[in-house]
Amino acid sequence: MCFGTRYCGSNLTLEAALDHFIYRDGALWAEDVPVAEIAAQVGTPFYLYSTATLTRHFKLFDEALDWGPHLVCYAMKAASNQAILRTLAAEGAGMDVVSGGEYARAKAAGVPGDRIVFSGVGKTRDEIRAALEGGIRQFNVESEPEMQVISEIASSMGTQAPIAIRVNPDVDAKTHAKIATGKSENKFGIPIARAREVYAMAAKLPGLKVVGIDVHIGSQLTDLEPFELAYTKVAELTEALRADGHEISRLDLGGGLGIPYARSNEAPPLPTDYGKLIQKTVGHLGCEIEIEPGRLIAGNAGILVSKVIYLKHGEGRDFLILDGAMNDLIRPAMYEAHHDIVPVVEPEVGIEPKPYDIVGPVCETGDTFAKERLMPPLTAGDLVAFRSAGAYGAVMASEYNTRPLIPEVLVHGDQFAVIRERPSFADMINRDSIPAWL
Ligand code: LLP
Repeated sequence: MCFGTRYCGSNLTLEAALDHFIYRDGALWAEDVPVAEIAAQVGTPFYLYSTATLTRHFKLFDEALDWGPHLVCYAMKAASNQAILRTLAAEGAGMDVVSGGEYARAKAAGVPGDRIVFSGVGKTRDEIRAALEGGIRQFNVESEPEMQVISEIASSMGTQAPIAIRVNPDVDAKTHAKIATGKSENKFGIPIARAREVYAMAAKLPGLKVVGIDVHIGSQLTDLEPFELAYTKVAELTEALRADGHEISRLDLGGGLGIPYARSNEAPPLPTDYGKLIQKTVGHLGCEIEIEPGRLIAGNAGILVSKVIYLKHGEGRDFLILDGAMNDLIRPAMYEAHHDIVPVVEPEVGIEPKPYDIVGPVCETGDTFAKERLMPPLTAGDLVAFRSAGAYGAVMASEYNTRPLIPEVLVHGDQFAVIRERPSFADMINRDSIPAWL
C-alpha cells in the first residue's frame, strides 16, 4: 500500500520527488522542518508551502524555454500571498494578474510593471487606468468593447497601451468543464476566425500598440495534444497577421499544464516536454514567448494540514471528521477534485489500510473530501496532510460558517514563518458595521 507518494519505497530522493514534503524518521517533513512541529505552534488547519518546491517548479519552466527569449509570468490566481510572490519574483518571475487587486499585490511584492501582464474577461475602467498609471507589460484583450475602452483611456492619458488579443482557438482542452476555456462556447477571447478583422480594428484605434497574440485554453491539462492544436493555430495566425502588416513580436501561450493529483497513477507531461512542444510549434517565428503557469508552480508546493476531530462509526462506513472543511479547500466540492491525503505520522510498513469517508464539519453533505479512501487506521487527534493543495487552495477559501480563513506558513530550509495569520473571531465580527437604526 502506497500512501500517496509517487515514488514509494526507501530510495525516495528530493531530486526525484514532486515536492519537498517527504517522510523522514517516521514523520512528514516540509523541507527540514517536521510538519507536526509547525502544527503544534500554529494550530490546525493551515496551509504550508515549500520555498524549494516553488522555486524548483518556476525554474523548470524557465529552463524549458531557454532556447529563446521568454518570460514566465506566474498566474498568481493560484496562490497570491505576498511571500510567495516575492519568492518567485526573486527568481525572475513575471506575473499574470486578472484583477486590480492582483495587480496591486504584484506591485506590492516589488514586481515592476513591465513584468506584469493583465488578463481577464472583464477589466474595469478603474483597473485599466491603475495599470496604465503603474506600468504594464501588456493587456490581454478579450473583446472589442474592452479594446475600445483601453484605447479611450490610454489616449486620454496621452499614452499607448501595449496589447495582445486573446484568441479563442476552439480547441477541446479535455479537462473539467468548469476550467476549460478554449472552446467557442466559452466566454473567453475572440474567435480565431475573426482575429484578422479585430487586429485591423486595433491598428486603427488610437492609444494602442499591438505587441502580440494571447491564448489560454484551460487548466489542469494532462495531455500535450490540445496545446499543440492551439499553438499551431496561433503560429498560422502570426504569419497571417504579419502578412497583414502587424508587428507580432510576442506570443503569450497561457497556462494550464496539469499536475498529478493522484500520484500513484497519474503522470502528466513535464515542463521540459511542454517547452519542446512550444519550440516545435512556434519556435520558428522568432517571437518572445510568455507563459502563465499557476498550478504547476504552486500546486505541489503546498499542503493543507488538518487534524482529525472525531472518528465516527456510521452505518456501514467510518467517517473521519477533520477540522479542515470545504470553506478551506473547495476543490473537491466544486470540481469533484481528488487530493491525496496522507497521515503526518508515517504508516508502518505492511499496515492494513481501512476505508474512510473524510469530511469536514461544515453543515453540508458537499463538505466531503473523499469517500471510501484507504488510509492507515486513524483516530481523533491525528494529523493529516492534503497534498497538491498549494494552488487554488487558500485563494479560494471563504469564511463560510464563520470559520476563520486559515493561516498560511512558508518553509525555507530549516526555518518557517507564518505568512498570513489566522484572524480572531473579533477580527471577523468587527468587519461588519451596524446601521444607525439598530
Ligand atoms: N492564464 C489564464 C488566463 C487563466 O485563466 C489561468 C487559470 C491561468 C493562466 C493559469 O492556469 P494554470 O496554469 O494554473 O492551470 N480553480 C480551478 C482552476 C481555475 C483556473 C483558472 N484560470 C481549480 O481549482 O482547478
